[in-house]
Amino acid sequence: MVSLHVVLPKQPIRTVDEYLDLGGGAALYAARALGPQATIDEITASGLRGRGGAGFLTGTKWTSVATGGGRHYVVANGAEGEPATFKDRLLMRRDPYRIIEGTAIAAFAVGATEAFVATKRHYAEAASNLRRATLEFTEAGLLEDLAITVVEGPDEYLFGEEKALLEVVEGRDPLPRLLPPWQHGLFATVPSGGWESESAGISDRGQSNPTVVNNVETLAAAAHILANGADWYRTMGTTESPGTVIVTIVGDVVEPGVHEVELGTSLNDVIARCGGAREGRRLRAAFSGVSNAVIRAEDFDVALSYEALAAIGSGLGAAGFAIYDDSADMVDVASEFSRFLAIESCGQCPPCKQESMAITDQLAAIARGDADDATFGVMNSRLLRVTDANRCYLGTEEQNVVSSILRAFPEDFAAHLESRGEPARHVSVPLIDDITDAGQVVYDHRHATKRPDWTYPDA
Ligand SMILES: Cc1cc2nc3c(=O)[nH]c(=O)nc-3n(C[C@H](O)[C@H](O)[C@H](O)COP(=O)(O)O)c2cc1C
Ligand code: SF4
Repeated sequence: MVSLHVVLPKQPIRTVDEYLDLGGGAALYAARALGPQATIDEITASGLRGRGGAGFLTGTKWTSVATGGGRHYVVANGAEGEPATFKDRLLMRRDPYRIIEGTAIAAFAVGATEAFVATKRHYAEAASNLRRATLEFTEAGLLEDLAITVVEGPDEYLFGEEKALLEVVEGRDPLPRLLPPWQHGLFATVPSGGWESESAGISDRGQSNPTVVNNVETLAAAAHILANGADWYRTMGTTESPGTVIVTIVGDVVEPGVHEVELGTSLNDVIARCGGAREGRRLRAAFSGVSNAVIRAEDFDVALSYEALAAIGSGLGAAGFAIYDDSADMVDVASEFSRFLAIESCGQCPPCKQESMAITDQLAAIARGDADDATFGVMNSRLLRVTDANRCYLGTEEQNVVSSILRAFPEDFAAHLESRGEPARHVSVPLIDDITDAGQVVYDHRHATKRPDWTYPDA
């Protein structure tokens, strides 16, 4: 299997002139020639699905915003907070111009005159590339009357959650609001739901300003689609998951890295491209971030498509996979992933924060050999409650990940109950700081000391 370079170029594009020489800008001209509705139709015909995690159809999202009342906005999501994922930063490193062009196309399609491109303050290189690309696009007159602002947000995982992202763009903390962006967008003046708005009629009380939030890879893909056509895009991938996807593979493989592949390529093929298991080791499990159920090694022939991963009870997520071999203790993995989610939970929905904290404590107790059979019963009932009344998907992630590990690796839990031993090897949640051109993964270990109120002891 060779890596493709459809959306992710081989080398960084450094100036707008270089970008235009390589054919950049053609997509924006094509969109303007087509008009807003035909631009949305082209994206709908391509079958493009969002690369931020949920795989939502981009054409459907743009349609609902284009037809909504009030002002319209577009937000490009380059927060990239999912563990085991680095593809957005690589894209922002190599082709920030395509992200700006895709954002401009989305804005044109939905009738927005203001757009935002958001990434983490900590991702200094990405932020500087996006600012440079925006400035050069503006100076070259490519944006016409569209204003694009680069927003630098906090490190918190929730910053990338679309309802929290809008809060950050508006200058607040990343606490998910109640309604989704297409219902309650940027700078909306309607109440955000409840009896008030319904009894008075939303349209009487202000504007909902429907907003498109798309992942940066989605927007870059949209630019390629406008330049080359929906039919071209559908020559790659599967019927339900057309095109390519940029996959991150880290963990227990010989050569971790980022590879663009056609959707429908098997997970096994991408792992093989990364050199497979280390010598003398056998692979056990893969996790697409911390959002979906574990994929056991027996299922590694699964196609990387939204439908195939859903069929085995998991999900493609942001296509960032953490791979573990037979030296990893799955109780330890469950405990670390649960701790990450518990810390990152914002606590607006008490079951999410409280149950995920308690589940983390119980997993840690099992890993230490400090638990008995009764712990499982209590933990299972907590896993059922952790999603109660939740505003966002984080609590479901906790439920998906922990329950699936319990089901897939009961022997690891049994071993801790019987031998009461500590794990031989301790894993950390795979937050990535960098993947160098030489293929070296630099992990970010700061999260190990982060406290449930998002502070650090040394701050
Ligand atoms: C806890 C949480 C964190 C998320 N983090 C990100 C992120 O860092 N980047 C991203 O693009 N989407 C993230 N998402 C998904 C976004 O909410 C949203 O679905 C996505 O940006 C939509 O873009 P798409 O349709 O192009 O996929 C996150 C979702 C959740 C629940
Ligand atoms: S589900 Fe969890 S993370 Fe999401 S808003 Fe509620 S408490 Fe916060």
